[in-house]
Amino acid sequence: MAGLAGGAIAGISVGIIAGLLLLAVCVYICYLRKNEVEDSKVLSDHSGSGSGVSAVDGGAIITGITVDKSIEFSYEELANATNHFSLANKIGQGGFGAVYYAELRGAKAAIKKMDKEASREFLAELKVLTHVHHPNVVRLIGYCVEGSLFLVYEYIDNGNLREHLRDSGRDPLPWSLRVQIALDSARCLEYIHELTVPGYIHRDIKSANILIDKNFHGKVAGFALSKLTEVGSSSLSTGRLVGTFGYMSPEYAQYGNISPKIDVYAFGVVFYELISAKEAIIKMDESVAESKSLVALFEGVLNQPNPTEDLRKIVDPRLGDNYPVDSVCKMAQLARACIQNNPELRPSMRSIVAALRTLSSNTED
Ligand SMILES: Nc1ncnc2c1ncn2[C@@H]1O[C@H](COP(=O)(O)OP(=O)(O)OP(=O)(O)O)[C@@H](O)[C@H]1O
Ligand SMILES: [Mg+2]
Repeated sequence: MAGLAGGAIAGISVGIIAGLLLLAVCVYICYLRKNEVEDSKVLSDHSGSGSGVSAVDGGAIITGITVDKSIEFSYEELANATNHFSLANKIGQGGFGAVYYAELRGAKAAIKKMDKEASREFLAELKVLTHVHHPNVVRLIGYCVEGSLFLVYEYIDNGNLREHLRDSGRDPLPWSLRVQIALDSARCLEYIHELTVPGYIHRDIKSANILIDKNFHGKVAGFALSKLTEVGSSSLSTGRLVGTFGYMSPEYAQYGNISPKIDVYAFGVVFYELISAKEAIIKMDESVAESKSLVALFEGVLNQPNPTEDLRKIVDPRLGDNYPVDSVCKMAQLARACIQNNPELRPSMRSIVAALRTLSSNTED
């Protein structure tokens, strides 16, 4: 009898413990689900009446955002940190908004203010930068969706590469730093194309989207047009032609085909900028009709049987003679591989990083 009662008690205890465990698991799952719904609600609630937001990939992007990794700021805090977005605090102007210098919670920050109409771009950038953490990608600290749309980044001290190459107010960048900045930016692209799951395509690689930190390392910014690479597909099509003239690959400009190789093409144009400090589209005359692409200028030079002398003529004059000519030639050849018409013949970012690593270790001023 006593044995039977003991068995019954043991059985009941096991049952109760199993029941309690099951209940705990259910409560935990409900808690996780609720959090997910609230995260996606943050954006749909705040980003206007939903029409702009629901247009984003049928809502897939919204639910994919892990906004809990970044801080949600109030408008008041951002306004106080930027002197009410005063002109004196403005440090940049891009295609999707103005960027302001801020002192926020004791640290330097940069705040991009975007119109509500740019909700698609805001969400794209928020999504990539909450997923991608890399030393050569600008770091997102947080966001705000009160009134306008705001993205808050770590402050990068030394402006963008475009200014360094073309602002006469800045010291010319020595050649070794140009190679270093190319390698830094290539590492970012290798990372987003090949080392993250899912992968991303930046779609707006250009010198204005490469920021330079206080140690003259490059950090890629401007992710507003970035897009997921579709699993199992080497190229996808887009309805909207976006990006910047002078950096667009032919298959994208003509047919809207997008693949990571459109970033490789644009990166080739950045190499040409690093060598020559010229714009991606060079105005030969006051009239727009008289303009020439940087790609065409370099093609004319590099197609010659012995291009070194003519290449020297288009090297940034601010470098003087302070550059190793073979290093410049190697970068020009690498650029040429990147801007080939056939996207499949362009190198991957992984092999560009490898080539730049060798170039960097062999380059001294
Ligand atoms: N974190 C930062 N620190 C310092 N300056 C910045 C920072 N982010 C942006 N800037 C400045 O603001 C300019 C515009 O920024 P950004 O490229 O992010 O905006 P955009 O051009 O509107 O967007 P996108 O490039 O995604 O189309 C940059 O070229 C740079 O000069
Ligand atoms: Mg930009």
